[in-house]
Amino acid sequence: MTLEEWLFQEQDRAEVLLLRNVSPRGALRGAIVASSSRDNPDYFYDWIRDSSISVKAILVLYLSASDREARRRHRRILEDFVDFTNVVQETAGFNGIGLGEPKFTVEGLPYTGPWARPQNDGAAIRAIELIRWAFILLDQGEEGLVRERLYNPQRPDSSPILRDLDYVARVWSAPCFDLWEEVWGDHFFTRSMIRKALLAGSLLARRLGDDAAVDAYREQAQAIADSLRMFWNPEQRALIATRNPRYFTPRSGLDTSVILATLGGYVRDEPPHTRLFPVDHEQVLATASVLEKVFASLYPINDPARGIPGIAIGRYPEDRYNGYVTDSLGNPWPGLTISMGWYYYDLAAHLRARSRITISAINLPFFEALPSNGLRVRPGDEILAGDPKFRAIIDAVMRRGDTFMERVRYHINPDGSMSEQMNRDTGFQQGARDLTMGYSAFLLTIRARLAPRI
Ligand code: NOJ
Ligand code: NOJ
Repeated sequence: MTLEEWLFQEQDRAEVLLLRNVSPRGALRGAIVASSSRDNPDYFYDWIRDSSISVKAILVLYLSASDREARRRHRRILEDFVDFTNVVQETAGFNGIGLGEPKFTVEGLPYTGPWARPQNDGAAIRAIELIRWAFILLDQGEEGLVRERLYNPQRPDSSPILRDLDYVARVWSAPCFDLWEEVWGDHFFTRSMIRKALLAGSLLARRLGDDAAVDAYREQAQAIADSLRMFWNPEQRALIATRNPRYFTPRSGLDTSVILATLGGYVRDEPPHTRLFPVDHEQVLATASVLEKVFASLYPINDPARGIPGIAIGRYPEDRYNGYVTDSLGNPWPGLTISMGWYYYDLAAHLRARSRITISAINLPFFEALPSNGLRVRPGDEILAGDPKFRAIIDAVMRRGDTFMERVRYHINPDGSMSEQMNRDTGFQQGARDLTMGYSAFLLTIRARLAPRI
């Protein structure tokens, strides 16, 4: 089977397996569990981050549905998700944490056990996806519904988007736990999501005539942008994950979450010059290149002697969570390996839209590592669109993206299912089975590969 054929086949599997985790039996409608696994580990909860990322994939399914029945089904999920959001936004205060509460039971109650909280990326990602949904509805002429269910400046307390935006606008500069639920500090990923949510919110506010909010959100987004520029570490030649961290054990700060923060395109209409860290930013390219090197030498399954294509990617090199316990050794994750492919596909789309590629001392290692048949690059090179080299680089970027998909294909279960992790020595799937976010990453990555857009 060619890679293409396999990707099509797996796309259908991923859709089915993802949807099984939406409103599962016994849950409130609209709850999306992180995995169906109820013990070792117990992931039968709705994490706001995970479910909001999955909603992004469901929006894609809705828009690309081939028949009315499928479209109706997907729409129902989106409406249920809005209902569930109303419930958890109401109950979130029970722990005294408010919208920073990361994890809810499938009945819509905040998890009461000890946990790493608050985590402020969840509300931001949810706002981004609800705003995307609002724009889709507006394009369909359903403004009344948007005002009634999603965004009404006269009733901020019962508008899910406004509640999330007002929360993240208030807390963006405060430290919190990271998306991996381990480190306290100021996070590149979390702040990037908050900035994007506020920019998107500003655009929606303009479209709905909520003039006071337009500038307020935009100004805050600007302040966050200034703070994000400080995450570059020149010695490591990478953007690091956390500033002012409180680590239990020392860390390099190298972390795949930085790449995740750049994925998934931009807020509607966002002019190119305001894009802060586009995927082809030299610091992002440098970070991707450092991360690949680190993971390539960290996991035994990445040993070139084994002859498996691509590089299996994990969360961060010092990871000790093996999917069951936290005092072990971390593994690569299928969803993160897929997301690295996504990064390359997004990158190819971006480069195609540029008039030139500039090689700098910072991004040189990235371009040098591309499989581009003897193509040589040097700092200072300017490769113009139209030059055969320009095309060769973009082709190499796409091919490299494919190697990450080949890698996942190699280790995936024969029935096309994936777990949270894959064993660093054997490649076998381990940890929570059918991780919802992994399937979402797959669906979003396929879309980035097939319909490159920026
Ligand atoms: C589960 C978390 O989600 C994971 O990120 C973490 O490593 C372990 N618990 C330990 O806190
Ligand atoms: C552990 C991951 O680190 C975290 O990001 C995720 O939200 C939970 N597992 C649930 O999937």
